[in-house]
Amino acid sequence: MKLAVLTTGGDAPGMNAAIRAVVRRSLAFGWETFGCERGYQGLFEDDFRPMDHGSVSGIINHGGTVLKTLRCPDFKEPDFRRQCYKNLEKRGIENLVVIGGDGSLAGARCICRETVLSLAFIPASIDNDIAGTEETVGFDTAVNTALDAIDKIRDTATSHERVFLVEVMGREKGFLALAVGLAAGAEVTLVPEVPFRVEEVVADLNEGREKGKRSMIVVVAEGAAEVPVLANQIEKGYKGEVRYSILGYVQRGGVPTARSRNLAFLFGARAVEALKEGNKAVFVGIEANRVVTRNLLELPEKKALDLEILNLAHLLAS
Ligand code: ADP
Ligand code: F6P
Repeated sequence: MKLAVLTTGGDAPGMNAAIRAVVRRSLAFGWETFGCERGYQGLFEDDFRPMDHGSVSGIINHGGTVLKTLRCPDFKEPDFRRQCYKNLEKRGIENLVVIGGDGSLAGARCICRETVLSLAFIPASIDNDIAGTEETVGFDTAVNTALDAIDKIRDTATSHERVFLVEVMGREKGFLALAVGLAAGAEVTLVPEVPFRVEEVVADLNEGREKGKRSMIVVVAEGAAEVPVLANQIEKGYKGEVRYSILGYVQRGGVPTARSRNLAFLFGARAVEALKEGNKAVFVGIEANRVVTRNLLELPEKKALDLEILNLAHLLAS
């Protein structure tokens, strides 16, 4: 048997731990194992390298991905994909493990529909926006990275008695912002799923100020607002100083937390085991603290943000 593994889309801390788990599980089954470089682009360019036990040594604690990753819009083109399939067939690779985010999953679905390959998908993304799993590899690390930054920003916010807006990533979803807002005890958390009015935010902040709060944190999902513009608008109505900080790509890198590594370990091993059991289109996820597998072509459409928790966070912070 032959198996290839690739990482695609945005990198996420723990992808390396997932590669390690996939490679070592595959080798333990006696399968010839390959790494495909730069995600779907590597399939097109036939860019594979053999992976042995040592090729994944010393990477469990590293952020990023040793296999590299790429946004590859061409993969949406059927002709481009056909060339990828030819390369896989030429090499006799029957099993493919794809590690990536929501967009990567759409690509994996195409492969499952258009080929006889056995494919397993491991959700890895700081956005945690993939339906079918409560958590993605890398999410916990990104939450902790953002939290660490906010704890530092709080020092300045407290000393200068300022309101700070902190922008976190998440594309058009608020999962990362909600988790960060909760753990940071943010006074306000703004997510794309819940439209807001600037006047309401200003009123909340002024109310907090009247209750004696001199420094406050507003966590803003990147998809919810243009933070520099919003900070400017808030400053016009708020009776104190306002600053903002855009956390950006620090959230994508860094040493993966134990949780991100362990999720990667469990997903990686289970993905290969599910292929060995003869499954064709496998999605690995976690539900109620248990690793589960589902049919990748029959996943729920969307994952919903827990608005009750968002409301509770608002209640507890005010
Ligand atoms: P992520 O997986 O982190 O969400 P992207 O959205 O960039 O990142 O998706 C990763 C890659 O998956 C894209 O660059 C593209 O190659 C592939 N992809 C995304 N959407 C589709 C689609 N609808 N059909 C086929 N391939 C897709
Ligand atoms: O999907 C992960 C993510 O970091 C999003 O949170 C963000 O919007 C996007 O990727 C940034 O993409 P790029 O790395 O292409 O700038």
